[in-house]
Amino acid sequence: MKFLPSNSPSHLGVAIEDIDLGTNLSDAEIKNIRDQWVAYGVAIFPKQSLTLEQYERFSQRLGPFGEEPFLIPMQSHPHVVQVHRKAHEEAAPFGGAWHSDWSFQLQPPSATMLYSEIIPPHGGDTLFANTADAYDDLSDQLKARLGDLRAIHTAKLPYAKDGVYATEGKERTMKIHTSDEANKKMSHPIVKTHRETGRQALFINPVYTAEIEGLSKAESDLLLFELYSHMGQEKYVYRHQWEPDMLIMWDNRSVMHMAEGGYDGYERLLHRITVAGDPLQE
Ligand code: SIN
Repeated sequence: MKFLPSNSPSHLGVAIEDIDLGTNLSDAEIKNIRDQWVAYGVAIFPKQSLTLEQYERFSQRLGPFGEEPFLIPMQSHPHVVQVHRKAHEEAAPFGGAWHSDWSFQLQPPSATMLYSEIIPPHGGDTLFANTADAYDDLSDQLKARLGDLRAIHTAKLPYAKDGVYATEGKERTMKIHTSDEANKKMSHPIVKTHRETGRQALFINPVYTAEIEGLSKAESDLLLFELYSHMGQEKYVYRHQWEPDMLIMWDNRSVMHMAEGGYDGYERLLHRITVAGDPLQE
């Protein structure tokens, strides 16, 4: 196994080569992979040739399947979701704004994996932002202010019956189920400690974080806006460029991500699996 860290200023991204994820990996190999994924936030495995069963088996070595609400999985593989946009589709790319997967759950997924099948010749990158580095760089004063604050997370904006995916009015290949379940609320501290690294990170994102508890709407909007502007700075961002047959897995506890467009006229198809999260330390 060969590890090639990216040279991104974000400190995110490591390519892991000379390994076939379709084989029966030893516990030591899985530990090595896990260590790299946790250290670099995004682990990238180029040139994999996996059946969906092999992909599922690999994901299970990292933990049990996560729960994927609102997305209708493949009938043949109930834990695999196709992230699919056809060549002439006009709907915006799925996941096209900064978010951390399912942050409105009590225990959001620790890892999300994507395995690429059809990749457009240009565009369609996935961006990742390092939320632990972003936290480290805050002033002591702001860190002290955030210390006790909690935020409300909800899936309402994208997945409610009057949400973005229900009202977009454009045909979408991806099968999304909007529902009143999306209106449920979950409170999480704004700063969470990663169980494996012990590092603190900002746990908020513009898609699912609705408001900060105990602040007026104006104060909450202002503080969230300030934090999102800080977190989205280029120095925290790793840009992932896809190739077909590439598997990547990221750590939802220490990065947020978004899908970029820029490939109209071309198809893009990836297969997604989430790995259940452990209780995040508060
Ligand atoms: C996602 O948010 O899971 C989609 C990311 C992508 O398609 O690049």
